Amino acid sequence: MLARALTHALVGLEARPVEVEAHLQRGVPGFSIVGLPDKACQEAKERVRSGIASAELEWPLRRITVNLAPAGLRKEGSGFDLPIALAILAASRQVPPERLAEHAALGELALDGRVRPVPGALVAAEAARRAGVSRLLCPTESAPEAALAGIEPVPVRHLAEARAYLRGTFEPPPVEPIRRSANGSHPDLVAVRGQERARRALELAAAGRHNLLLAGPPGTGKTMLARRLPGILPALTLEQALEVTRIHSVAGLLPPGQPLLDRPPFRAPHHTASTAAIVGGGSGPRPGEASLAHQGVLLLDELGEFHRSALEALRQPLEDGFVAISRVQGQCVFPAHRGSRRGVLVLAPAARLIPRQALARAA
Ligand SMILES: Nc1ncnc2c1ncn2[C@@H]1O[C@H](COP(=O)(O)OP(=O)(O)OP(=O)(O)O)[C@@H](O)[C@H]1O
Ligand SMILES: [Mg+2]
Repeated sequence: MLARALTHALVGLEARPVEVEAHLQRGVPGFSIVGLPDKACQEAKERVRSGIASAELEWPLRRITVNLAPAGLRKEGSGFDLPIALAILAASRQVPPERLAEHAALGELALDGRVRPVPGALVAAEAARRAGVSRLLCPTESAPEAALAGIEPVPVRHLAEARAYLRGTFEPPPVEPIRRSANGSHPDLVAVRGQERARRALELAAAGRHNLLLAGPPGTGKTMLARRLPGILPALTLEQALEVTRIHSVAGLLPPGQPLLDRPPFRAPHHTASTAAIVGGGSGPRPGEASLAHQGVLLLDELGEFHRSALEALRQPLEDGFVAISRVQGQCVFPAHRGSRRGVLVLAPAARLIPRQALARAA
């Protein structure tokens, strides 16, 4: 018996459609997952088995093969748990397969069957909409984020709830519409004493989205001023907010209870940050600080202490407004606008440590 569920694999900021096929055959009972799953995805086996048992559903005593198609695409993370469990339940006719086929699904399973949030719900929902699927079974926490994509999220807390919903015996609660946040609690220039020139420089940088180099003796307020820049930037438009939310969602950095980031982000990485942490990287590339600060402010405090390679790596994103990361499996592009484009880069070297080259580069 065969059943299918639709889900997505993250590749950079994109979600590619993945079909989860579950096939039950006669023979020695067993469970295998094929289709290039990574370690976390391979471990879905144990979570799915425990989740189904905890939801007091029946684990089919068959030879179970789960295929994640297309088989050539690497599948990373734990978001495949829920679709795998549902495909197995559909193959053993514990949920109606035709109803499952009308949905996409996403979520990690706890051993007790609870559904946990995973990164990238927004891009997965957008991809589902593009694939012509209008409902996404997802963790309750991710539902408001998924709703931003204009599809109908079906928030489920537990595998048993997902099954009951697909059998038509449970109606999930409606998803609250998202309210744009008020101008937050970001500190602005109110508390700054004097410093007319520095304040003017900050205002010009904010208005024209220019990059800024703050230099001066220790204790004169460089760090304090730089941290106040986001407070005088205007709120993001909905389109910009979605762009920023997508990046933070994929990086797993969306604060709980805040599905839409509509204030300009502020990132101040420590000077020991690696090149990959600054511009993004890793085997399944993840956005770095330059992209997390997209449409907002990237502060490099104690500039002279940063690894030279990290500063050099910022050149290309500063020029182009995006980071292109190439891996064997393909290329990912993360946006990283700044300067005259859309973000602001603030360089605040420690007073005694402004390397001449850094100054020349910043100029
Ligand atoms: N003009 C100002 N108005 C209000 N507070 C200020 C002002 N200038 C400095 N301060 C306060 O002085 C302290 C030191 O400032 P800050 O850490 O920003 O200095 P800095 O220039 O970054 O020093 P360093 O070069 O050592 O990094 C902070 O608590 C800051 O709030
Ligand atoms: Mg400082």
